[in-house]
Amino acid sequence: MKTHINVQNLNAFYGEHQALRNISVEIPEKQITAIIGPSGCGKSTFLKCLNRLIDLTEGVRVSGKILVDGTDVLDRGIEITEVRRKMGLLPQRPNPLPMSIYDNVAYGLRIHGTRDRKALNEKVEHYLKIAGLWDEVKDRLRSPAAKLSIGQQQRLCLARGLAVEPEIILCDEPTSALDPLSSQHIEQQLLKLSERYTIVIVTHNIHQAMRLADYVVHFYLGEVVEHGEASEVLENPKDERTRAYINGTFLTQIKIDTEVNLKGNKCPFNFVYAKQALHNLEPGKVMRVIVDDPMAVTEVPRGMEADGHKVLNVKQINSTDWAIVIQK
Ligand SMILES: Nc1ncnc2c1ncn2[C@@H]1O[C@H](COP(=O)(O)OP(=O)(O)OP(=O)(O)O)[C@@H](O)[C@H]1O
Ligand SMILES: [Mg+2]
Repeated sequence: MKTHINVQNLNAFYGEHQALRNISVEIPEKQITAIIGPSGCGKSTFLKCLNRLIDLTEGVRVSGKILVDGTDVLDRGIEITEVRRKMGLLPQRPNPLPMSIYDNVAYGLRIHGTRDRKALNEKVEHYLKIAGLWDEVKDRLRSPAAKLSIGQQQRLCLARGLAVEPEIILCDEPTSALDPLSSQHIEQQLLKLSERYTIVIVTHNIHQAMRLADYVVHFYLGEVVEHGEASEVLENPKDERTRAYINGTFLTQIKIDTEVNLKGNKCPFNFVYAKQALHNLEPGKVMRVIVDDPMAVTEVPRGMEADGHKVLNVKQINSTDWAIVIQK
């Protein structure tokens, strides 16, 4: 696997407070790397160092190296706008520009020299399509971006970010402000985009990390305590602190009160049946659902979470089946 971003001995201080301690990680090209860890452990600081948005914070000191395609991003002599162009940032809350849907996407294109109307039209359509928003907005491109739903605004921000042709997409909890359906849209786009872009996503949601990540980096109090393939880190963590963090989110060893086999059922019926089965359980009890419909692997957990239940684990158990463990 080719390394795209090579971080070496990265330290960051806010005044006296050290937010990042000697971080060394290699982020692979055209893969999704998820950064997980408790609040305040330095995840956002790390992302901001990558694209040097950290420069905007007063009193910050950063040391170490961040090599992107061989160039050290932290080198004072480099052209920072060029570095930022290589890295699109998808923030926690969408931040569309106060202009039309069309102009939000065209904005970056114009800055980078596309003026011709026909070329602009084509490119705006192209990026709205890869962000998965085109069909919903193609008839109202001139209406203000602010009129879109939050989830649509987030996909618009994705389109706007992609329009300047970055190589790397940085996302800081990009779905935490979104409803389950909009989150699913963003996740689907990110999975598709990982064929062409290197993606780094900060997430609080272990299930999201499971659905998306190829690699996982676990931050703890400003340090990287574990880093590796997602399946290894999430299912078989070596570090006690990673184990504790993941167990805090869902338990790996858990007593199952009832098991429901929903193999052969397609979405949305498997969700409906799972819901009915859960209905008969007492609160706090745990149900394991077996499904063989790939759609159900994302849909059932999402629906259950939306209904206020806790999804404790989602795991592929053989070549066709998945087990979803839900606590009422
Ligand atoms: N501008 C700032 N000035 C001073 N301290 C800061 C600043 N920004 C962050 N910190 C501190 O640095 C540490 C890391 O913060 P950071 O925002 O990177 O954490 P995080 O892992 O993204 O947390 P969360 O999950 O809550 O978003 C925290 O202790 C935080 O209080
Ligand atoms: Mg943060």
